[in-house]
Amino acid sequence: MRQEDEHHALKNESKIHTDFTEKMTYSEYLGLDTLLASQHPLSDHHDEHLFIIVHHVSELWMNLILHEVHAAIKDIQADNLPASFKKLARVSQVQDQLKRVWDVLATLTPSEYIEFRDKLGNASGFQSYQNRLIEFALGYKTSYISKIYEKDVKLSQRLQEAYEAPSLYDVAIQALAKAGLPIDDDVLNRDVRKTHTSNESVKQAWMTVYKNVDQYWELYELAEELVDIEDLFQQWRFRHMKTVERIIGFKQGTGGSGGVSYLKKVLDQYFFPELWELRTEL
Ligand code: HEM
Repeated sequence: MRQEDEHHALKNESKIHTDFTEKMTYSEYLGLDTLLASQHPLSDHHDEHLFIIVHHVSELWMNLILHEVHAAIKDIQADNLPASFKKLARVSQVQDQLKRVWDVLATLTPSEYIEFRDKLGNASGFQSYQNRLIEFALGYKTSYISKIYEKDVKLSQRLQEAYEAPSLYDVAIQALAKAGLPIDDDVLNRDVRKTHTSNESVKQAWMTVYKNVDQYWELYELAEELVDIEDLFQQWRFRHMKTVERIIGFKQGTGGSGGVSYLKKVLDQYFFPELWELRTEL
């Protein structure tokens, strides 16, 4: 469109607001100045911008996941399972987006990354506190992480509260008990600061749900939402591990771990073990 035509079209479109002297703009509402000024590369290398943006995008999606999972926990505690389904389904969609950032990051080659990697010092995604908050909310409790954040009192407190709170899986198991399915007392009264490990009564309860789908429809739907989330979490972990191998091979991580060997090991961790075990026995 020619410039005069464009101007003409805008002038004729009387509904378009252009006077914002007294009104809030799009960028003010979204705090875009702060958001878009958050990239502070430590090198002159062209590709560091991509590296930072991919981390930022990932952290934003994690923020939304936390928001939704915490709300879903409250819904389940309030015996409103259908309300939780909407939120958990959204979590899966966000995880799918989160997984796709690896496609963008995989365009970073080893030769490019090596140009600025040493600038990162010991900073690593390993220290992503939102990732730990998500893991806590899903039930994987690793206490060592709070040590990293000792210097930040407010954040340490937030991590500690999340560490001591029941997880999504804890409240799902409580929902099984509320539906009259027998669950061991030591599971119902367990120390929620510990990672849940597989329990026979929980497995049998889920088995009953999966064998009597019509009778336990809501619990069945809840179970499948949880499996979606765990499945996507594992897909994210796998893509992370493979992308890291593609970019740094088997070098040590900047966070101090063995690198790919560590990332392979975390693939063995389950949030909702019984929901996977029952599939063999059903
Ligand atoms: C070139 C890109 C990347 C490389 C080479 C890389 C490498 C690594 C390595 C080696 C670890 C193990 C801990 C360590 O020793 O550092 C790790 C952990 C981690 N990284 Fe990345 N990473 C990259 C990108 C990302 C991105 C984009 C995110 C998104 C936020 C991310 C999030 C994480 C998280 C959450 C962990 C902890 C995993 C766990 O403990 O289960 N990484 N990364």
